[in-house]
Amino acid sequence: MAEIVILDRTAAGELAADVILALVARKPDAVLGLATGSTPLAVYQALAARGADLTDVRGFALDEYVGLPPGHPESYRAVITREVIEPLGLNPSLVRVPGDRGPIETAGDDYERSIVAAGGVDLQILGIGTDGHIGFNEPGSSFESLTRVKTLTQQTREDNARFFASVDEVPVNCITQGLGTIRRAKHLLLLAFGEAKAEAIAAAVEGPVTASAPGSAIQLHPHVTVLVDEAAASRLSNIDYYRYAWANKPAWESL
Ligand code: F6R
Repeated sequence: MAEIVILDRTAAGELAADVILALVARKPDAVLGLATGSTPLAVYQALAARGADLTDVRGFALDEYVGLPPGHPESYRAVITREVIEPLGLNPSLVRVPGDRGPIETAGDDYERSIVAAGGVDLQILGIGTDGHIGFNEPGSSFESLTRVKTLTQQTREDNARFFASVDEVPVNCITQGLGTIRRAKHLLLLAFGEAKAEAIAAAVEGPVTASAPGSAIQLHPHVTVLVDEAAASRLSNIDYYRYAWANKPAWESL
């Protein structure tokens, strides 16, 4: 089962930075799967503050809107550049975003080929939507799905309207790594903060494995770390056990 660690946002960012830097120490050209949105900012900020040399690290963004004008500040290419590539000192030519090359019709297959050619994603950073999506795999997405164009739910568009002037400006379509793509990553690091994520986290960690709760795909993966604050953990039934397991984690065992 996933390892659940309950800690505040800042501490979660620091712990995630520890995990990423340990990976990069072992493998300087490690392949990171990069989520955007508010949640992973804690991780990117903690990493930037460490000032480590990450110039050989390769990155694959989880998803991107389809239909925004090129260079739009809320395109995930722009967000990844602003929030990840620049502060962390990554090499922009080593970071891809779905749909960044060739026609959109074949962009999904092209992205999958690039991930395979890179040797796969070593560590996939994930947030979760209030409707349970990971990447932009909305409820009903196949657990075997690969990178492809999808349609956002109205709930997700409303959640993301805070980044735009109005909900009408949030694109309807997106291109996202599939649940199958995410499941192929070697280690999943899922973060969630705040009460609004509590239900989605409970469904992902403890609910039945069902396409209706895309986050529950993590239960099929052998190496998952979930970093949540008290509010996001508040609907977990087995919370006492997660705390106990974390407190009794063998010192030799890494995350
Ligand atoms: C972003 C992504 C989404 C977000 C999710 C949560 O690349 O794939 O699944 O992780 O929508 O967004 P925030 O973190 O803004 O609450």
